[in-house]
Amino acid sequence: MNGTVREQALRKLESIENMPSIPAILEPLLRYLSLPVDELQVQKVVDMISNDESLTVQCLHLANSPLYCRWQAVDSLRGAIMALGLGKMKEVALACSFMKMLPKQVGGIDPVIFWEHSLACAMVSRHLARKLSLPFAEKAYLAGLLHDFGVIANVTALPHEFAAALALARAKEIPLHEAETEVMGINHAESGRILAELWRLAPELIAVIGDHHSPAQAKTNRGLVALVGLVDLLCRMRGLGYGYAENRIVNLLEEEAYATLLEECPLVRGADWTRITFELDNYMYEVHNLVAALYRMQ
Ligand SMILES: [Fe+2]
Ligand SMILES: [Fe+2]
Repeated sequence: MNGTVREQALRKLESIENMPSIPAILEPLLRYLSLPVDELQVQKVVDMISNDESLTVQCLHLANSPLYCRWQAVDSLRGAIMALGLGKMKEVALACSFMKMLPKQVGGIDPVIFWEHSLACAMVSRHLARKLSLPFAEKAYLAGLLHDFGVIANVTALPHEFAAALALARAKEIPLHEAETEVMGINHAESGRILAELWRLAPELIAVIGDHHSPAQAKTNRGLVALVGLVDLLCRMRGLGYGYAENRIVNLLEEEAYATLLEECPLVRGADWTRITFELDNYMYEVHNLVAALYRMQ
């Protein structure tokens, strides 16, 4: 690999001035929402969210979406938070905030398609983790949602290089991370780790973001990393990738992610993977609805 291209990319990533910063509202809100649900006060969450107009609007849209069948329209932020449930607010806040960070159509990636992929990975990761009784089931949703955090870093810091990588991936029908490495010597897993460390995200999120394409190399949280890596692949195979089809035949059970998951969680061996991949189709419907409720309303 051309060291100069890689070094240039790394320099751009590390020195970028307008690297996405954690939204001002998000940090205190997330810290507060990390408390046990029974210690949370609805009014405090209302006060914090009402500081951010678009988050307020998105809570209202989501609460009134067909996903949450209400008898009456929810017309206040307090009502929306009650309808969605305090336990859900962390996911909603993160999903809404991260969505805002991806510039529209920069780098050739459609933000809606990107978030569809991220949400699909979040929902399927949690579903699978629960179904397989994995010990990290509660961390799976956020890990799935944020696994491609590095795409945001690349789109922001290396827009031209990223656009070239995506075009190459499309033309050669190869995985995005392989095309990125070919074009700029670094892929979104590596740049995601840089941004995630900058944001001081939780260690398990940094591991997933940095190692989901090479789970066997993960030094910590290997089970969670492998699960998300496997789900990422499943979603890409089901047309919920980055807006193009990869030309490869995948046998999940021969994948590095599966072998790593098995090493960490031996009980996974007994799972009915044919059924699990079949069930995934039901999720596609749910994912499309959620994306429509969250992102397609503007
Ligand atoms: Fe990825
Ligand atoms: Fe992905």
